[in-house]
Amino acid sequence: MQTIARLDPLRSAVSLLRHDGEVALVPTMGALHEGHLTLVREARKLAEHVIVSIFVNPRQFGAGEDLDAYPRQLEADCALLHPEGVSLVWAPEPGAMYPEGYSTNISVAGVSEGLCGGDRPGHFDGVATVVCKLFNQVMPDIALFGEKDWQQLAVIRRMARDLDLTRPAAINIIGVPTVREADGLAMSSRNAYLSADERASAAALPRAMRNTITAIEDGAPVAATLAELESALLAAGFRNVEYAELRDAETLAPLDALGARPARLLVAARIGKARLIDNMGLRTSR
Ligand code: PAF
Repeated sequence: MQTIARLDPLRSAVSLLRHDGEVALVPTMGALHEGHLTLVREARKLAEHVIVSIFVNPRQFGAGEDLDAYPRQLEADCALLHPEGVSLVWAPEPGAMYPEGYSTNISVAGVSEGLCGGDRPGHFDGVATVVCKLFNQVMPDIALFGEKDWQQLAVIRRMARDLDLTRPAAINIIGVPTVREADGLAMSSRNAYLSADERASAAALPRAMRNTITAIEDGAPVAATLAELESALLAAGFRNVEYAELRDAETLAPLDALGARPARLLVAARIGKARLIDNMGLRTSR
C-alpha cells in the first residue's frame, strides 16, 4: 500500500493501477472507523484496486466549526487500511489541494439547500468542490460514499451528473448503508466527542427515529409526529434539534405525507459537543 501526498506521483501511480483493471475511490476525511472500512470492503468487491483519500477539507467547515479539533491520525488510519487490501492512500497536504491563488467553487442548487445546507452555509459547496477535484485527480470508475450523509450523497450525484464527470463512462457512485453500533447509533468520527453519559443518551436518536417511522407508516400526521421526535430527543438529553424532516429520498423535496416515491427521515441534533446526523428510509404508501 502506497501513501502519496503530491499530485504528480498520484497520477503516475493511478495510471499503473489502471492497467490491472477498475479503480474504486473511497473519499474520507480520516479518523477511520468501521463505517469507512465497510466502504473499503464494498469497494474491494467491485474493483481490482481501491484508493482511499484522506483529506480534512477546510472548505467544508464553517467559521466556528470543528476544523482544528477534527481528529487527524494518518498513521493509525493507514494501519487500519493496510490489512484491507487498499492499493493506495491519497493524503494531500492542504496546499496540494488548494494551492496559492485557488479560486474555484462548485455550488449545487436545490439538493444543497435546507437540512445540513441550511445549518452549515457553504458546507456543500466545499464538499462538491473537493469531491469534484478528487474525481478529477483519481479518475475512478467507481466511488463509494456512506448513506449516513444522505444529503451529501444527493449533492455528489447531482454534481457528477451535471458536470458530466466521466471516465470514460459515468463514474458509478454507490451509496453504502449506514453502519451502526450495537445500540443503533450511526458510526461517525464525531462520536469521539461524546462523554460516556452523552454516548449512552445518543442512542435515543436512532430509537426515536424508528418510533417516528413506525408512527408515520401507520398513518400518524407527519408534522405532529416530527414534533414528538424533537421532544423525545430533548427529553433524552440532546441540547437542540437542528432539523427533523421528512423528504423525498432523491430530490430531497419536503413531504407532509408518504406517497408513491421513496421517502427519508433526516435528523440533525446536538448533544454535548457533538452534532449528530442520521437518516432512515420509509416504505412508500403503496
Ligand atoms: O464524508 C466525508 O468524509 C467528506 O464530506 C468527503 C466526502 C470525504 C469530502 O470531504
